[in-house]
Amino acid sequence: MEDQVADNYDELPLWSAPFGQLILEHVPLKRGQTIVDLGAGTGFLTVELAQRSAAARVIAVDPWAGAMQVLQRKVDYLRLTNVELVIASQLDLPSDSVDLVVSNLGINNFDNPATVLQECYRVLRPGGRLLLSTNLAGHMAEFYAVFREVRPSEALDEHVAHRATVDGTLDLLQQAGFTASVLAQTTFKMRFADGTALLSHYFIRLGFLDGWLAIAGQEALDAVEQELNRRGEVSLTVPAACFEAVKD
Ligand SMILES: C[S@@+](CC[C@H](N)C(=O)[O-])C[C@H]1O[C@@H](n2cnc3c(N)ncnc32)[C@H](O)[C@@H]1O
Repeated sequence: MEDQVADNYDELPLWSAPFGQLILEHVPLKRGQTIVDLGAGTGFLTVELAQRSAAARVIAVDPWAGAMQVLQRKVDYLRLTNVELVIASQLDLPSDSVDLVVSNLGINNFDNPATVLQECYRVLRPGGRLLLSTNLAGHMAEFYAVFREVRPSEALDEHVAHRATVDGTLDLLQQAGFTASVLAQTTFKMRFADGTALLSHYFIRLGFLDGWLAIAGQEALDAVEQELNRRGEVSLTVPAACFEAVKD
């Protein structure tokens, strides 16, 4: 029994936590809601909402089968009876059938965000809402400033500019039919002893390194690492926002 507690204790990526907190601080918690967690990943938000909303039905949707297996293990361990798992990249649900859609760090990862948001609009009932969190332009600006100093390129500028902005996200939500607003905006810091620590970190390698290598290649990234090491501690700012979109 104690081993099972330990197995399930660290149950979400640290990267996901501050964004998830923004959603959890603002999400409407009502009895009996039908909730979709879109791009649920390993489903910490699914699990929280299933427990925090009495008599809710929570549907976790994600095409990543491995993550859904992890979520299923957590659902079994916690004996949650109100969670459904759907391995898919589209919402196969009736129109006007959902009270709330949440999506933590989904929008930057969807191939076709405009279509996904239109689908969210379709499945929500009138008065229903979508809460989504995302990192924003300005993300890790300190790292990109050094990258640009060492190896300026159009590819780097495009990579940086591709990140979500507040206005761009509001536009996307409005184009899907929603009345949209910013519920919360904040920043947090990720600190590393030096460039080598940053570039060796497991989550940086998992989530970011391939993109950086694609921009400039290994030799350029080595030069960025050396310059960061010369400067000492690396403290990266991550701007985060939570948006609310209402289907009127
Ligand atoms: C950065 S992860 C976030 C996972 C989780 N929400 C979290 O905060 O830890 C983005 C997730 O979106 C999923 N995803 C990508 N395209 C999707 C789509 N069209 N529909 C639903 N999920 C999608 C990915 O498989 C991945 O699990």
